Amino acid sequence: MTDLKRRLSDAVSAAFTASGLDGALGRVTVSDRPDLADFQCNGALAAAKAAKANPRALAEQVVGHLRADPRLASLEIAGPGFINLVLTDAELTRRAQEIAADPRLGASLADSPRRVVVDYGGPNVAKPMHVGHLRASIIGESLKRLFRFRGDQVWGDAHFGDWGFQMGLLIVAVGDEQPDLPFLAEGEGPFPAESPVSLADLERLYPLAAARAKTDTDYRDRARRATALLQGGRPGYRALWRCFVEVSRTALEREFNALDIRFDLWNGESDADPLIPGMVAELEAKGLLELDQGARIVRVAREGDKRELPPLLVVSSEGSAMYGTTDLATILDRRRRLDPGLMLYVVDQRQADHFEQVFRAARLAGYAAEGELEHIGFGTMNGPDGKPFKTREGGVLKLHDLIEMAREKARARLREAGLGAELSAEAFEDTAHKVAVAALKFADLGNFRGTSYVFDIDRFMSFEGKTGPYLLYQSVRIKSVLRKAAEQGLAAGPILVADPAERELTLALDAYDTALTEAYAKRAPNLIAEHAYRLAQTFSKFYAACPILVAEDADIRASRLGFAKVTLDQLDSALRLLGIESPDRM
Ligand code: ARG
Repeated sequence: MTDLKRRLSDAVSAAFTASGLDGALGRVTVSDRPDLADFQCNGALAAAKAAKANPRALAEQVVGHLRADPRLASLEIAGPGFINLVLTDAELTRRAQEIAADPRLGASLADSPRRVVVDYGGPNVAKPMHVGHLRASIIGESLKRLFRFRGDQVWGDAHFGDWGFQMGLLIVAVGDEQPDLPFLAEGEGPFPAESPVSLADLERLYPLAAARAKTDTDYRDRARRATALLQGGRPGYRALWRCFVEVSRTALEREFNALDIRFDLWNGESDADPLIPGMVAELEAKGLLELDQGARIVRVAREGDKRELPPLLVVSSEGSAMYGTTDLATILDRRRRLDPGLMLYVVDQRQADHFEQVFRAARLAGYAAEGELEHIGFGTMNGPDGKPFKTREGGVLKLHDLIEMAREKARARLREAGLGAELSAEAFEDTAHKVAVAALKFADLGNFRGTSYVFDIDRFMSFEGKTGPYLLYQSVRIKSVLRKAAEQGLAAGPILVADPAERELTLALDAYDTALTEAYAKRAPNLIAEHAYRLAQTFSKFYAACPILVAEDADIRASRLGFAKVTLDQLDSALRLLGIESPDRM
């Protein structure tokens, strides 16, 4: 199913061709002047330039071929040669009914479905998630849902950070604190299954150990050795490490669940480990590995690079796999298991060089073709000082605390607005949680991902303006109208477009497909957010201009209920693609 814009583009292109002009110039866009037209085509200007002719005269010719089109109520040439198109109420009625009857609500499928891995979230063992992981999680989850909705087969993978030097650090830190642990013994075990540390222990020890390793070279060397022994398979270290992984993952999943973020795969960096020896041998055989001060590297710099890109460190001088090594082996692993045509890495823009190194190495090694690996970078969430957000104490804000803070704010806002008073305590909590999540997610997805934004919980949580809570409120308001209608025994019926506000609402609904197609092409969920906001606003205007329940005529009432229903369905569909769930009541 195609939208009105594409259908009109086809017709106008044919009219260009029939006038002896380039059909591609017949592309139609939504009108810049909705007061004058629904759609416009500017192609006559370009055609005139190419033919050194008068644009208005060419536009006349094109328009001549369109006069007989029954879908058009009017066709005018404006200014230097813009063609303005206005659709008939009947044509808009047809389109509104079509969207209302469509389970996809007017959104088309991608031309050729692909197999896609979305690597996002990127949580780490023992490190609490912070606001940087929040952006990766929110954007990644939305892209995963969008790609799936467009028909791709998608795997969301957390790419759990469970392998590098941090693991050696933890082993040393835990071992120093509990020197009698059976896990520290050499030999085959058996080792206890129960974890000797809690997540709180790990979160306390890790920053201390990381800080100490920065200055204490002896400590650092011990951690490096522990890392190499772990990766080499020492059974006690492996058993202890598995405890770290378990304890961390359980806590992380709880936080992700709270944000409605669900991974299909929880593969860790460690899962790529078994592939590393073979991979290193292969890189060696292909002549890609170079020895550099005891380490093995792949040179990835290219002639013409604007900046010098350092080589990818594959094996450290201690023999350990590095962050890039596991990323490269993971590409190989995914190739073998899933054979994706596209891998998206939703990770902070500051890791751009890392991904450029890994992607270039992967292409050199023949693990991925051009265009199959994409880093989807994003800016930072900043504090009022314009720098990456910190707590008042100067530390990074833990995701857990952020969610709690947002929930508290949501409860207060609901109460201030006099909302949710008649809800049960449980339903109120559910609504507050949904408002909190909507506020955080919409604040993030409302801007293009490359842009950094300032964390301002009061603004995010407002029920007015371009916010998550505003959209939820609109959704809930429509639900309540539909509920009232049902109580009165009224049902939605066929949509009939007559009022200008109904025309406008139909055009807003029709724009869903373009929003999704472009969001998909640009990996830009903000275009979905934009659409949801415009749709909600247009509905508000319609609701003010076209009374629903008190409309006298039964057909008009049924039609307007039909509008309410299709708007709600599309709004909730768009919100779901952003990872936002709307409550039933507020
Ligand atoms: N764990 C990493 C971090 O916290 C992010 C992982 C991103 N994904 C990847 N394939 N490298 O920075």
